[in-house]
Amino acid sequence: MNPINHVAIIMDGNGRWGLKYKKSRNAGHKAGLNTVEKIIKETIKNKIKYLTLYAFSTENWKRPKKEINYLFSLLENFLIYKIDDLNKQNIKLKILGVKKFTKKLNKLLSFSEKKTSKNTRLQINLALNYGSKFELINAFKSLQKKKISINEKNFCRYLLTKNIPDPDLLIRTGNTKRLSNFLLWQLAYSEIFFEKKLWPDFNEKDYNSIIKKFKNIKRNFGKI
Ligand code: FPP
Repeated sequence: MNPINHVAIIMDGNGRWGLKYKKSRNAGHKAGLNTVEKIIKETIKNKIKYLTLYAFSTENWKRPKKEINYLFSLLENFLIYKIDDLNKQNIKLKILGVKKFTKKLNKLLSFSEKKTSKNTRLQINLALNYGSKFELINAFKSLQKKKISINEKNFCRYLLTKNIPDPDLLIRTGNTKRLSNFLLWQLAYSEIFFEKKLWPDFNEKDYNSIIKKFKNIKRNFGKI
C-alpha cells in the first residue's frame, strides 16, 4: 500500500454549481468553502501531513471584480473566524503565492501564517495568486543571480514549495482534465485523479474512495 503524505487539489466547479443551483457563481464559492472544511477534517482523519489547495491562480485576476472581491471576502472571514480553531487543532497554514492583495488581507495572511508556523499535525498550503510558470522562472532567475549551479536540489530550494514534499496525489474536481498552471514541476510523479463532481458536491466519501484507489496503485517512479 502506498503511503500518502501530500494531497493537492484543484477545487474546480464552484461557478457552475452556483449557477446551476443558486443562480450566482458566488453562491458556488460559498458552498465550495464548506467542502474545504469537510476535506480538511477528512485529511486529518487520514493522517495526511500536507494538503495543498488551489484557491486563486495568477490567471484568476481576469475574472469580474465582483467575483474576485467576493472570493477574497470569503477568505478574509474564513481566517478571521477559523484561524484560532485551526491553530488549536495544531494545523499550520502556509500561503503559496505572492501576497499582493489589500493591505488588510496581506496582514491577515501573514498573521495567520505566523500564528500557526510551529504546528505539526497538518500543513495546509493555500495557493493564492499562484502560478507555476511564474514560480519556475523566478527560481531560475534567483539561481542565476546568485550564481548557484542549476541542479534539481538547488532548484527546489528556490521554489515556493521549498521544504514541502511533492504531492503524492492530485485531485481535480469539476470534470475538466487539465493542470491550469498548478505545481507543474512538483506534480512530475504524482498520481492524478480527475473527478466528475463539481467541488461543492465533492464529499468525504468521494475523497476516501480516491485515497483508497491511490493506495493500491503500483507506483514505479520510472523503475519497473
Ligand atoms: C474554481 O472554480 C474555484 C476557484 C477559483 C476558487 C476556489 C475557492 C473556494 C473553494 C472557496 C474559498 C476557499 C478558501 C480557502 C477561503 P471555478 O469558479 O473556476 O468553477 P467553474 O469552472 O465552474 O467556473
